[in-house]
Amino acid sequence: MKKILLVFGTRPEAIKMLPVAKCLARETEVQTLICVTGQHREMLDQVLSLFDARPDYDLDIMRRAQGLEHITTAVLTGVAQVIDQVRPDRILVHGDTTTAMAASLAAFYRKVPVGHVEAGLRSGDIGQPWPEEANRRIVSVVTDLHFAPTARARDNLLAEGVSAKSIHITGNTVIDALRFTVDRLRGSQELETTLASRFDFLEAEKPILLVTGHRRENFGSPFHSVCEAIRDLAGSGRMQVVYPVHLNPNVMAPVNELLGSVPGVHLIEPLDYVPFVYLMQKSHAILTDSGGIQEEGPSLGKPVFVMRNVTERPEALAAGAVRLVGTDRGRIVSEVLRMFREPDAYDEMCRAHNPYGDGRAASRIADVLVGREVKEFNAVA
Ligand code: UD1
Ligand code: UDP
Repeated sequence: MKKILLVFGTRPEAIKMLPVAKCLARETEVQTLICVTGQHREMLDQVLSLFDARPDYDLDIMRRAQGLEHITTAVLTGVAQVIDQVRPDRILVHGDTTTAMAASLAAFYRKVPVGHVEAGLRSGDIGQPWPEEANRRIVSVVTDLHFAPTARARDNLLAEGVSAKSIHITGNTVIDALRFTVDRLRGSQELETTLASRFDFLEAEKPILLVTGHRRENFGSPFHSVCEAIRDLAGSGRMQVVYPVHLNPNVMAPVNELLGSVPGVHLIEPLDYVPFVYLMQKSHAILTDSGGIQEEGPSLGKPVFVMRNVTERPEALAAGAVRLVGTDRGRIVSEVLRMFREPDAYDEMCRAHNPYGDGRAASRIADVLVGREVKEFNAVA
């Protein structure tokens, strides 16, 4: 029986890889094993329990305010040891984290083929997102099976000389996870009631601006500027801000210091995926530097303001559902406020777009892995 080892370590990788694990678990000719690196701990465990996933291996590498060298070396060594025990026929990694980069390198050193889920995204700037743009490119070099979410991602790989035969356009598995969660919310009045009471500190009639942020390249003065913008936005009186704060101490410290006692700003702990999706649905708009939320927001018909200068996800930008606002205080305030003041401009941005998937990405990936014929994802169709 063919053995496939899935390796992931952070919250977004788990959200996007567990749909693949679920589909592969149904295949009788494949044995699927999961190794989590534990690059994240609490934020990873939240997702594992939602999907009822029990990893076969847990490297448990996370340290407080960890450096990139620590993640890289711990994952490289740890995954190599797991590969020696499991002797997989293939490993699967996801996206652009340091877990993905170091795990793919470990597989390459052991001459184990690598499949890359969410392959081919490129910002074109090695410094942004940092270090993720480099991580994703490194994974591409050692990968022989590229699961590109969109045609654009496929084209990026072709332009780098990757063979067309090794690329499959699948859609992004985040849309599978999102649909699963939205259906769960829709199907349960009890869950809706529980969540409503969990967020009973929110004013019923006031529009919500949902905020998240964690990018390493924004640490320091860009983060300060973002916090000042959030203070200004809350001070406008037009919105209430809800901000689940990432557990990274480089994020928590400035956010708590600058926004801890600002009226209209609710700082909360990172949310489980179900309440987070609930909150996205209830929001008027989202301000974030996240990768995954740039994909989820447009699918939910929510305008997303991205606190970055460039993005490796230009599809929703081109469709008008996402806007890049950088980290300049004045620019963030003016662009976001406009969406709370001008209903026509708002409606224009809200038209739901699904350039990233149709909810069947994971099953396409499983089809490719077991050698079945696959009809590729086509965002236009
Ligand atoms: C990582 C990824 C980033 C991804 C993000 C998703 C790298 C280099 N970065 O960034 O690509 O977008 O995850 O959120 O791979 N912490 C906890 N508990 C947790 C998670 C984090 O306490 O469950 C704290 C720890 O102090 C940890 C720190 O956050 O050292 C940073 O975590 P790390 O994974 O290094 O970086 P992220 O910013 O989370
Ligand atoms: N998310 C979550 N709880 C939160 C914030 C985000 O479940 O409090 C989800 C979000 O819906 C998305 C993913 O986490 O699917 C994005 O993670 P993050 O922004 O940390 O990483 P990135 O996508 O930037 O790599």
